[in-house]
Amino acid sequence: MLGNFSYCNPTKLYFGDEALGYLNDELPKYGKNVVLIYGGGSIKKNGIYDEVLKLLQENDKNVAEIAGVMPNPTVEKLYEGVGIARNHHADLLLAVGGGSVCDYAKAVSVSVNCKEDPWEKYYLRFEEPDCETLPVGCVLTMVGTGSEMNAGAVITNHKTKQKIGHVFADEKIMPRFSILNPKFTLTLPHYQMVAGIYDIFNHICEQYFSGEDDNTSDYISEGLMRSLLVSSRIANKDPQNYEGRSNIMWTATWALNTLVSRGKTTDWMVHMLGQSVGAYTDATHGMTLSAVSLPYYRHIMPYGLKKFVRFAVNVWDVDSAGKSDEQVAGEGLAAMERWMKELGLVMKISELGATEDMVEGIADGTIIMSGGYKVLDRQEIVNILKESL
Ligand code: NZQ
Ligand code: ZN
Repeated sequence: MLGNFSYCNPTKLYFGDEALGYLNDELPKYGKNVVLIYGGGSIKKNGIYDEVLKLLQENDKNVAEIAGVMPNPTVEKLYEGVGIARNHHADLLLAVGGGSVCDYAKAVSVSVNCKEDPWEKYYLRFEEPDCETLPVGCVLTMVGTGSEMNAGAVITNHKTKQKIGHVFADEKIMPRFSILNPKFTLTLPHYQMVAGIYDIFNHICEQYFSGEDDNTSDYISEGLMRSLLVSSRIANKDPQNYEGRSNIMWTATWALNTLVSRGKTTDWMVHMLGQSVGAYTDATHGMTLSAVSLPYYRHIMPYGLKKFVRFAVNVWDVDSAGKSDEQVAGEGLAAMERWMKELGLVMKISELGATEDMVEGIADGTIIMSGGYKVLDRQEIVNILKESL
C-alpha cells in the first residue's frame, strides 16, 4: 500500500428492516423546514411515501416536496428544485429514492446558496462550493450507485448532450445519514435490480483495475465481488430473498463509499463511456456500463495482465494450472461474461438506442481518465464503442 491518503466518511447508516424508525433520532437534529425529494411515484405505490410523511409529521416538520426527479436527473430539474428549496428556507433535504434522487438532493444542496450557474460552476468548471450547503438525508429504495454514502452527484444536460458526475471533495456533501432497509428494494423491477447489481460490480472493477503494488484495498474489493456474485445469483432466481437483497445493499454501499479506492489511482473509463452513452440515449445507468464493459476490458487486458490474472483466479476461481497468463485472464473475462448474461444484462449499446452515427458524438463526450492501465486515445474510444454496438 504505497499511496498517501486521508480517509473520512461521516455518513451515519441505519441498516435493516427496522431502519426507517431511526428517522425519529435524526429529524430532531435539523430545523423545521424539510424538503422531501422523490422520483416518479414508486414510493407512493409501495407505501414508503406514507411511512416517511407520517414520521415527518410526528416530528412536527414543515414539509415541501420536489416530486418527479427522473432517472438521470436533468439540469432543468435541478434549477426547479433549487427554487423550491430556496422558497421553503430548507433546513434539510430528505431524498427518498435511488441514486438519481440522492444525487439530485446533493446537487440542490450545493446550489441553493450558489450565486453562479451551478451547471457551469460544478459540472463544467468542476469547482467546489464556496457557499453554504444544505444537509442531505437519504432513504434508499434502489441499490447500486453508492450515492447513499458518497459525495457524487451526476447531472445530465440534454441540450449539450453531456452527462457529468462531480464527486465533491468536501465530506459534508455526503448524506449526513442514510436509511438502508433492504425490504424497500423488493418492489424494484428485475431490470432495475440487475442494472444496480452490475453498477455495484463495475464500481469495484473501476477501483480494482489499477496499480501494481500489494494493496489491502484490492483484497477488500475481491471479497466484495465474491459476495456480490453469490447474492446476485440468489436474487436473480428469487428476487424476494431478503438475505440476498440485504447483502447486495450492503455491498453497494461499500463498493463506492471511498474505502476501496484508498491508496490507489482509479480507472473509471467504463463509467466515462457509459455516461456519454447515457447522455445520448438516457438509458439506465447500469446497463450503459454492462454494454461497453467487455470490449473495454478485453482492450486493456494486455496492459494490466497481472491484475486480470489475479481477477480470474481470486474472483472467478479460474484454474491457472498449465495455462498462460493470457489464457487465464481471458477465462476470467469469459466467466464474467457468462455471469452478466445469466443476470440478463444489456450487452450492446444498440439495445439502448445508440446508433452508428452517434459514435463520434459519444466519443467526443467521453471524458478521458488517466488512472487505469491504459490512457485511451480517441481512436481507441471509437473502436470500443463500435465493438459495443
Ligand atoms: O422514479 P421512481 O418512480 O421512484 O422509479 C425509480 C426509477 O424509475 C425506480 N425505483 C427506485 N426504487 C424503486 C423503484 N421502483 C420500484 N421500487 C423501488 N423500491 O428505479 C428507477 C431507477 O432509479 P434511479 O434512482 O435512477 O437508479 P439508480 O439508483 O441506478 O441511480 C442512477 C443515477 O445515479 C448516477 C447515475 O449516473 C444515474 O444518474 N450515479 C451516481 C453515482 C454516485 N453518486 O456516486 C455513481 C454511479 O456510478 C452513477 O453514475
Ligand atoms: Zn455507476
